[in-house]
Amino acid sequence: MAQEGSFISDIKELRKRARQHMDQGAITEGYKVDRETALKLLNEALATETVCVLRYKRHYFMATGIHSEGVKAEFLAHAGEEQQHADQIAERITQLGGEPNLNPEGMLTRSHSEYVEGETLVDMIKEDLVAERIAIESYSEMIRFFGEGDPTSRRLMEEILAKEEEHANDMRDLLHRMDGSH
Ligand SMILES: [Fe+2]
Ligand SMILES: [Fe+2]
Repeated sequence: MAQEGSFISDIKELRKRARQHMDQGAITEGYKVDRETALKLLNEALATETVCVLRYKRHYFMATGIHSEGVKAEFLAHAGEEQQHADQIAERITQLGGEPNLNPEGMLTRSHSEYVEGETLVDMIKEDLVAERIAIESYSEMIRFFGEGDPTSRRLMEEILAKEEEHANDMRDLLHRMDGSH
């Protein structure tokens, strides 16, 4: 019969292990994914978010026309949320002993989503929808990679993924509204 608390096999051993390699911060022996790969993926997500911030900002400033008011507000709100995601991911990278790569050089190559300016309001919304769909795909893959080996990164990316799904939905709704308006 299982004893109370026996799911933690050996509390003495656990305490001893926690004292070893303290310079590794949050990384313990329980960390089960390849750290270099984790950092690479998180830096790609950081680039993806940063490119999304810039694209939404561009769209916010460039949106004009009779239908642009509500759309502008949506672009700005999304830009702010993508910035929050970028910050959360950068924070996680430092927890894992890595360095957030915010070097503008290579940002677009590291990013999974693209930076497309778009001519018309409809083009902009379509490009944002495409970018969100790319983020959804690539974050879903990252979540599978982190799995049980790095549950904190997994939960972070799950939280962000849920937001990207909302964003995609928002863009789809805007497109529908624009369709009905001309
Ligand atoms: Fe995001
Ligand atoms: Fe998004």
